[in-house]
Amino acid sequence: MSFSLLRGTIRRNVATGSLPRAQLRNQLRISARRFSTPPPEAPAPKSNTPLYVGIGAVVAAGVAFYAFSDSGNTAIKSGVQAAKVKANFVPTKDDYQKVYNRIADIIDQAENYDDGSYAPVILRLAWHSSGTYDKDTKTGGSNYATMRFSPESEHGANAGLNVARDLMEKVKQEFPWISYGDLWTLGGVAAVQEMAGPKVPWRPGRIDGIATQATPDGRLPDATQGSDHLRKIFGRMGFNDQEIVALSGGHAVGRCHTDRSGFEGPWTFSPTTLTNDFFKLLFDEKWVWKKWNGPKQLEDKTTKTLMMLPTDYVLVQDKSFKKYAKAYADDNDLFFKDFSAVVAKLFELGVPIEQFVSAEPWIMKNADEK
Ligand code: HEM
Repeated sequence: MSFSLLRGTIRRNVATGSLPRAQLRNQLRISARRFSTPPPEAPAPKSNTPLYVGIGAVVAAGVAFYAFSDSGNTAIKSGVQAAKVKANFVPTKDDYQKVYNRIADIIDQAENYDDGSYAPVILRLAWHSSGTYDKDTKTGGSNYATMRFSPESEHGANAGLNVARDLMEKVKQEFPWISYGDLWTLGGVAAVQEMAGPKVPWRPGRIDGIATQATPDGRLPDATQGSDHLRKIFGRMGFNDQEIVALSGGHAVGRCHTDRSGFEGPWTFSPTTLTNDFFKLLFDEKWVWKKWNGPKQLEDKTTKTLMMLPTDYVLVQDKSFKKYAKAYADDNDLFFKDFSAVVAKLFELGVPIEQFVSAEPWIMKNADEK
């Protein structure tokens, strides 16, 4: 069966409620797997000799750093990173591709998790670590990966992202030379690409920060608000109306969890495949307020299995937002082009240009590309 046929079948089955949930998940997983084929090769073993020499050289520096940092753990990890640097280890694009491949591998090891993929939650981590940027004070953004630190890690908006941070930590143990900011944003790139989305240009250069660089609560959007709030929050990051709408298309994938945000359910019938379905469904379905004890959210009248947040629904209520939402509903290629550009911009927020290792962003290969 072709992929589009398979998705059509799933859609119909969901619509008529004729599929048990477990079977539906299996089918959804199959549809996602269609795009993330054989497990990538394990990273080639590397000699650690230069690393150990380097570690010796930075012990003193590490101790000094420890005295000034809020976390000894961070000091040790930063020490290892510094050791690699001292040992003249200069990672190449191939080294970053190995990290990408490892993330793609982990994304797929989600048999019993949500819809069978960790990609949505990994994308959300990358977005929340970048979306704290304030263009006026030039604080926040993806540079320092400050969500590692309390209280930012415990901000309400970040509930549940410990799942993604723990997965990324496994990768960090294997590739200690990569900074957390680079790792998390590369995770976002891998998530988009491995969910059959567009290529997202990316380049490394972020550095690890310390706890005092963490951002205050309230910088990320509140899903219960309207268009003024969206413009205020995303305007602070430097995004216009068109970019706000394109970014919101990220809700084509993943789902809400009552124990994280309080909201419940997926936005689309294919929550592990990136498409413009989020926009199509906004226009094609009739959306009604869900009657329940939870926060205000909408459900589709026909199947009652899909959801929209109040902030998603304003995209078809506000005249300016609606124009872009309609354009994306009508044209998946346009959505992919704009989503790729705006996500690339999002992931670079807060990173001084001179920190990047290359003038032009790179295009990373998908796990199944030769
Ligand atoms: C427009 C403002 C936004 C609001 C108010 C918002 C709000 C939310 C909320 C409440 C959840 C549910 C969290 C949970 O319960 O697990 C969520 C999930 C998610 N968001 Fe957003 N979000 C916004 C923008 C974005 C953007 C710009 C992206 C990426 C480009 C994005 C990607 C995601 C993804 C992938 C998930 C699913 C995570 C999962 O499945 O675990 N969101 N968002």
